[in-house]
Amino acid sequence: MIRINENYQKLKSSYLFADIARRVEKFQKDNPHREIIKLGIGDVTLPLPLACVKAMHQAVDEMAISSTFRGYGPEQGYGFLRQAISDSDFRSRGAAIDPDEIFISDGAKCDTGNIQEIFDANTVVAVTDPVYPVYVDTNVMAGRTGNFQDGRYQGLVYLESTRENSFIPDLPETPVDLIYLCYPNNPTGAVITRDELARWVEYAMKNKALILYDAAYEAFIRDPELPRSIYEIDGATQVAIEFRSFSKTAGFTGTRCAFTVVPRNCRAYDRQGREIMLHSLWNRRHSTKFNGVSYPVQKAALAVYSKEGQQQVLTNIEYYLGNARIIREKMEKLGFECTGGINSPYIWINGNKDSWSFFDDLLNKAGVVCTPGDGFGLCGKGYIRISAFNSLENVEKAMHRIESAL
Ligand code: MLT
Repeated sequence: MIRINENYQKLKSSYLFADIARRVEKFQKDNPHREIIKLGIGDVTLPLPLACVKAMHQAVDEMAISSTFRGYGPEQGYGFLRQAISDSDFRSRGAAIDPDEIFISDGAKCDTGNIQEIFDANTVVAVTDPVYPVYVDTNVMAGRTGNFQDGRYQGLVYLESTRENSFIPDLPETPVDLIYLCYPNNPTGAVITRDELARWVEYAMKNKALILYDAAYEAFIRDPELPRSIYEIDGATQVAIEFRSFSKTAGFTGTRCAFTVVPRNCRAYDRQGREIMLHSLWNRRHSTKFNGVSYPVQKAALAVYSKEGQQQVLTNIEYYLGNARIIREKMEKLGFECTGGINSPYIWINGNKDSWSFFDDLLNKAGVVCTPGDGFGLCGKGYIRISAFNSLENVEKAMHRIESAL
């Protein structure tokens, strides 16, 4: 008899954003004439930077000629892209990351979801609360948690991020093995300072733990004092894996390209307590289950690092950050306490009421979609997240409607 993976039965019925999409679809069906503005899921709206489009066109042309056609590429990514990432994203900031420590993939969601496969089933996992649901759900699927009870999975360690600690949680009080951190944070938009991040690296070293550092939103950091990579912290290569993405940086949500950094000296331990390098494990997993990102897409990603590409990416980021400023200022003017939206495209808003009622209010009264905070965890109760990913025109219209509705 074929049996299911029972762990799937522990999951909430659907993924947060699928749940929201369904509610929005129903609302639209019931109100076909209402125009909805979506500031929910963080999906980019600006087209790809021109440099990327040109590079992708050129690469497609190469694929059309037998002398330049390419079949399977290296699973880990083409050398040209790995080299550019190493030089521009890391070495230029004093982080000694080599090209062969970079694994190109089709998304940070997939990588942050898949990485847990290389760790023991009994790994004690810590996540922040609120949290990007992928970290939690993939560990539930893998059987590292008990049931969902009173808003939390048993067996997971939740590190509370609240207004009292400025949304940067304290170090765990009980021993943990694997810690998911995300800065600039999704959903709160909070950022972490160098000193705060150094405390986590120190913790991981002292406790033989590992940090999974999701830096998908690093391109939104404007403050030069803030770290963009965990590898800017001494010792981090030993105790941290970092995830990056071209999705929010260069508008690749539909194009798909990201990367994971597993430094050669990054370690975990076997049953006997011997150090095992994670680079070879991830390489094994990646090359077994993944056949690489397409050549045209990697060429487009490479163009992000050209002079023209850098300028165009910056213009797009500034555009979204301009939207974020408008959202934050308006919500503050309306009397709401906000965080994020300065070095981040997300604004975390304390609605002082049930998140889903706030969500319904915005949808019904203003036709604006946000994300209810408690979809990200218990500590998100009472909050909503508004995303800056939309056109300036729509953001202004949405804020105007919210002002009139509330
Ligand atoms: C979000 O809205 O939280 C993100 O778009 C989710 C993602 O990047 O997968």
